[in-house]
Amino acid sequence: MVFFILLLSYVIGSVPFALIVGKWGYGIDIRQHGSGNLGGTNTFRILGKKAGFIVTISDILKGTLAACLPVLFHTDLHILVAGIPAVLGHCYPIFARFRGGKAVATSAGILLFYAPLMFVVLVAVFFVVLYLSKYVSLSSLIACLGAVVYGLIVKDMLLTGVMTAFLVFLLYRHRTNIVRIIAKTEPKITWL
Ligand code: G3P
Repeated sequence: MVFFILLLSYVIGSVPFALIVGKWGYGIDIRQHGSGNLGGTNTFRILGKKAGFIVTISDILKGTLAACLPVLFHTDLHILVAGIPAVLGHCYPIFARFRGGKAVATSAGILLFYAPLMFVVLVAVFFVVLYLSKYVSLSSLIACLGAVVYGLIVKDMLLTGVMTAFLVFLLYRHRTNIVRIIAKTEPKITWL
C-alpha cells in the first residue's frame, strides 16, 4: 500500500497543468517561451493572470491531494512523506519528458494540508518579500526558509528535515534564477 501511495503521489505531481492550460487553452507550449519552466510564474508571464492563477492553484492542489492520500487510504504513512513524490513528479513529470516546474507550488500544497496556519503565514511571507523585491524566485526561497524556521520553532523535526531538504532542492532548481538575481537580470513582476 505504501508503494502504491508513493507511486500515485508521483503520478498526481506529474500532471503538467502549465502545459495543459497553455496548449489546450491558448495553443501555446510555454516550454518554448519565457523561462521555459512549467510553473505558475512562467504561465503568468506568458499567458497572463487568469491562466497563471489557474495553474498556480492547480499545482498547489496537486501537493494537497498527494498529502491527503494516507488519510484517503487509511494508512499511517506520514503526510509529508506521501507528498514528496508529488514534488518530484512536478519537477520531473512522466507526462512531459521529465521537464517540469521548480517545486514551489506543489510543496506549498503539502503544507496547506499538513499545517494550514503555517501555510497562511508562509503565503504572507512570500507576498511581503515579493512586494519588496519583485522577485518570485527569491520570495519562494525565503518562504521555504520560513518553513524550516517554523519547523524548528514548533520542534517538528520531520517537518524541519523535509523542509530543509526541499530548501536545498529549491536552491538547486532555482540556480539559474539565483545567478540572474545576483547579475540583476532576473525578471521582476510588475503587478505588485
Ligand atoms: O519559483 C518558481 C519561479 O520563481 C521561477 O520561475 O519561470 O521565473 O524560472 P521562472
